[in-house]
Amino acid sequence: MTTRYEGLTPPGRVSGRAGAPVPATQAGLLSRLSVQDKVLLLTGADAWRTQGAEALGLRPMITSDGPAGVRGVVLDERHPSSSLPCPSALGATWDAGLVGELAAALGAEARAKGVDVLLAPTINLMRTPLGGRGFECFSEDPVLTGRLGVAFVRGVQSAGVAATVKHFVGNDSETERWTYDARISERVLRELYLAPFEACVREAGVALVMAAYNKVNGIPMTEHARLLRDVLKDEWGFDGVVTSDWHAARSTAATALAALDLAMPGPDGPWGGQLAQAVADGAVTGEVLDDKVIRLLRLAARVNALCLPGGDDPPGPPRVPAARADLRPAVAPGAADAASPRPDSSTDPDRSLRPEASLYPDSSLYPRQSLHPGQPLPPDPSLHPSPLPHPDQAFVDPALLRRAVAASLVLLRNEGGALPIDPGSVGRVAVIGPNAIRPAIHGGGSAVVMPVTVSTPADAIAEALAGQAEVTVSGGCQTWVVVPEPAPGSLRDPGSGRPGLRLEFRDCDGELLAAEHRTSPALTWWDQVPPGIGWGKPGTVVLLTSFRPEVGGPHVFGVAGVGRLTLTVDGAVVADAETVVPDDPVEAMARPGELRATVELEAGRQAQVRLEFRPAADGEGPLTVRLGIVPVAADDDLLAEAERAAGLADAAIVVVGTAPMTESEGFDRSTLALPGRQDELVRRVAAANRRTVVVINAGMPVLMPWADQVAAVIYAWLPGQAMGTALADVLLGRAEPGGRLPVTLPAAEADCPVLHAIPEHGVIEYSEGLLIGYRGYDASLRRPHFPFGHGLGYTSWVYESALATAADPAAGDDLEVTVTVRNSGSRPGREVIQAYLAGPPSDPAAPPRQLAAFAGVSAAAGARAEATLRLPARAFARWDEREGGWTWPSGPFTVHVGRSSRDLRLSLQIGSGTPGGS
Ligand code: BGC
Repeated sequence: MTTRYEGLTPPGRVSGRAGAPVPATQAGLLSRLSVQDKVLLLTGADAWRTQGAEALGLRPMITSDGPAGVRGVVLDERHPSSSLPCPSALGATWDAGLVGELAAALGAEARAKGVDVLLAPTINLMRTPLGGRGFECFSEDPVLTGRLGVAFVRGVQSAGVAATVKHFVGNDSETERWTYDARISERVLRELYLAPFEACVREAGVALVMAAYNKVNGIPMTEHARLLRDVLKDEWGFDGVVTSDWHAARSTAATALAALDLAMPGPDGPWGGQLAQAVADGAVTGEVLDDKVIRLLRLAARVNALCLPGGDDPPGPPRVPAARADLRPAVAPGAADAASPRPDSSTDPDRSLRPEASLYPDSSLYPRQSLHPGQPLPPDPSLHPSPLPHPDQAFVDPALLRRAVAASLVLLRNEGGALPIDPGSVGRVAVIGPNAIRPAIHGGGSAVVMPVTVSTPADAIAEALAGQAEVTVSGGCQTWVVVPEPAPGSLRDPGSGRPGLRLEFRDCDGELLAAEHRTSPALTWWDQVPPGIGWGKPGTVVLLTSFRPEVGGPHVFGVAGVGRLTLTVDGAVVADAETVVPDDPVEAMARPGELRATVELEAGRQAQVRLEFRPAADGEGPLTVRLGIVPVAADDDLLAEAERAAGLADAAIVVVGTAPMTESEGFDRSTLALPGRQDELVRRVAAANRRTVVVINAGMPVLMPWADQVAAVIYAWLPGQAMGTALADVLLGRAEPGGRLPVTLPAAEADCPVLHAIPEHGVIEYSEGLLIGYRGYDASLRRPHFPFGHGLGYTSWVYESALATAADPAAGDDLEVTVTVRNSGSRPGREVIQAYLAGPPSDPAAPPRQLAAFAGVSAAAGARAEATLRLPARAFARWDEREGGWTWPSGPFTVHVGRSSRDLRLSLQIGSGTPGGS
């Protein structure tokens, strides 16, 4: 009765009338399924797909990461994706309208790739700046995270794609993430870590919640009945699907009873037959099972994966207004950025329908047509590189990406008006730094996509100044921790002579199974390799290429993968060993073991390279194999050259930051210092050129011990593919650096309220309570290097007045505060007005101040702008551990209004101090 889609099968299709409204709760649907059928539906069909059921007219649904671009079911340079600014960059925009607009575009691209469920956004909080995955979070603050999370979910879902908020909850660092126990008090959970999830459930109607790997207070999150069933489903009314994080479901009855609905990936896992047995034994009731199936069917109806069997619609894109309407939530009150004059595209009721036609090219990668009985399934495009055009009309508009990156760049410091640079005032500009040439556009792990294109700072600045100033480019120093990929154009497929390499899959006898041409020397697969290749299988993956060195001399070859690697250069084996199997499967992709060999090469003479990879017997996760080649260089020489270039220029732009694989899912950073000799590079350049502008290309905080020695500093995050052009726009004053810090930048590691998140005996005590990020700095009176909310822009602002609608709001009421600001500079600009709430004095555990609302306003030079900030009732509430509920303590409160958590310009007293009730 239920169709099981094995191995390489692409998205299955069933015949039927697409879009026909099938009430998911209809008992009739369930009665068509046996217990076996039901349990089959509740575990994935493969790495990314759910199971289909022909009897129900249910096709498999496709899930895909992630938060900074939608990858699809393959990570393959032939099927690229728009690469968006990472979530910490989106956090820096403080602009829910812009985030919603980007998310709607991301959703449209997901639809075009055949994706039904986007595994984003990540709405955990940046508890520690060392968190390896902090770049995937919006902020250290729950209000900013909640506002942007809601906008992101609404945007994605307005395109008919289901969003997934993750990772519920307490997944705030990576070390031992599969097992650690986060000990968090109920108050701290409610007021900090659960708050963004609650907002996305209640306000945005998010379709899925992903249960995290870790434990909270002793219970694995996939088994956490109190948080999943009692809080998420019963208290908040979540009617969607709780999916496990990948492989996070590790028990049968406990996960089923705790209200996990879907175990991903599949087809193996702890449910299946074991769950059917648990139902037979009475350990899990039929109602519990049915509730999961109903939720899954409700999701299917939302993304139009349910069709009435037997219909006779011709193949073609589904028409899904009903499904889309279901995913679009009612506009919720209390959006803190409500005062932003920009129309919120994510809530435009017509928007989701308009681009429909263009999103379904006649032949897209994963065509969404219905199949008729007997019609063969289309070939898997990942194994048979398809001649079909990419659905590139669905890529995110490059102009939107460029605008978003500019809006996320935070100007931290700008002495003597060093920025913007007037192109007419500079004859020569030195662009310096490892990240100017090879920027880090995204972090590692599941957020990685193959970008459509990459605009590097070096190229974009040279292009922007072409004909106006001479631009020199110097690498400055080396930061790589894994051997970088060879320069584009230096590899040739020995068979065809085309740029790139020949990829072969061979069986245990060396017989060729399949071969293809690839251009990327970093390759990853989930399900798409031929049988006989994979963990514990005897086949091999072989990369063959000719490398043409630009310079002669010693070159470092680095080959990576989990398993046996054999590297041959010009017929000689130069590396041959087995790499270690990492603890976390994601590291098989993010940080596989690397073998290195140094080989002497002649400039311009092709070297024949052969890399053979046999995956390890006991590996897990995706398969990755990588080839890196870099000429041996001396940092001393690179530093000296950069210093010389800076000395000869009128301005120096130094782009420093994290190296590839420094920031990633799967592991935390061990230091906040910039890798390599980048601090020395900045100091030496600054000493050689007074107009030194430093651009930090990092997803999370780094230390900047030289900040007061340079003219200007811009924080650029991991900005995605549009980095270079947007940065050039800002440097030359064509766009404003619109960002404000979503995370505090520390002056020293010791200042951080929470630095390490390394479990002790498997436990992480959240003993700092509510005092993470700026709250901790405020409580300890330590001075951040640059405070939360800080960002200069190119103009200045006077805060003129703040007026509240009520002097003493009743318990449970929102409070509106109208703020008037004046642009006192000489350029138009956008200001982010921030309201922080302090008090009441009767609550010593409360942080000194907490962000309660914010609004973006724009004004011409000299003009005034007014914004009404809505402080939600919840901002005045406290979680009462004894009562087990929210209470509204008596005041007084103080509302502080200003430009950052430490630049507060106006204040208002609220509340008389009389009890406000509860
Ligand atoms: C990550 C999730 C991701 C999933 C699928 C997990 O390792 O924690 O965020 O969505 O893999 O890639």
